[in-house]
Amino acid sequence: MELGRLHDPVLVHDWHAVCLASELTDKPIGVKLLGERVVVFRNEHGVHALQDLCIHRGAMLSEGWLQDGTVVCPYHGWQYDGNGQCVCIPAQPKGERIPPRAKTSSYSCEEKYGFVWVCLGEPGDGVPHFEEFADPAYRPLPCGPYKVKAAGTRVIENFTDFAHLMFVHQNLLGHPDHAELPDIEVVKENGRIYIENVPIFQPVAHSGSDKREGTTYMYRKEVYRALGARLSKTDPSNGQTLWIMLSVTPVTANECLVFMMVSRNYGFDVDDANFIQFQNIVFEQDARVIETQKPELLPLDLQAELNHRVDRFSVAYRRWLRELGVVVGTI
Ligand code: FES
Ligand code: CO
Repeated sequence: MELGRLHDPVLVHDWHAVCLASELTDKPIGVKLLGERVVVFRNEHGVHALQDLCIHRGAMLSEGWLQDGTVVCPYHGWQYDGNGQCVCIPAQPKGERIPPRAKTSSYSCEEKYGFVWVCLGEPGDGVPHFEEFADPAYRPLPCGPYKVKAAGTRVIENFTDFAHLMFVHQNLLGHPDHAELPDIEVVKENGRIYIENVPIFQPVAHSGSDKREGTTYMYRKEVYRALGARLSKTDPSNGQTLWIMLSVTPVTANECLVFMMVSRNYGFDVDDANFIQFQNIVFEQDARVIETQKPELLPLDLQAELNHRVDRFSVAYRRWLRELGVVVGTI
């Protein structure tokens, strides 16, 4: 069943990645964001996002094609420009005026970090800025997107969680014999929450590292938006650092699309495909658990699940979502 637009006072005004910039070439692409069908396309002025609904008889524009910088409805050939204005009605006599009401909604759309971003409402700021993607010492690499049948909030909470590394990612990112976690303090400032200096023992070194095994990495994890988080992971002995930025797109309340950017300051001679494959494996391990969690929506009532001292960061995330007033993906 089509649900139509989901109302969320926070997420509607936020930027969400909807597809890889490299995918958007000579065809329009249909995506779903907060229950809304959106068509994205590219012309000589850049990328554009419109409601994926022809104003004439409600056909999907994303099923159409591109012509002269416009998206053409597949039903009767009406053409829409990047602002959603209809500029051609083939059935009407040439030279006749096109009614100004022949317009479909348009949304803010930008291309950044190799992704196409859309905001359905009024974006307060631009797409978030990450210094690691401007730093020439780092090599950015887009991974995903990964489709997950779960609330985006569940994915972010999992990203902030340390105690699962030794089990879900056993032998890759942690080991059960090194499961104990230090007491961590959550810092909240400048509209974000973070924790830092968390040591995690990893039985094998990350790909591209010159080390073989048994490295203790220092982690910093931050949630900078309701559905945006990032981490850095550093080997203190050599400064090799991996950044991961996760942007989760709420497709519906319990379905999301996860975009990931990985940036590293080492292993430039290692094939990018190795890094992508590693992230694919790790994410698949996470998704397998996340998709089984009940309730499907993240409970913001702190009595609803058993919170342990080590869950301080996820508790802070749940509190913060409540303060922000996020509705979609929460209960
Ligand atoms: Fe799109 Fe008629 S429904 S042109
Ligand atoms: Co994980």
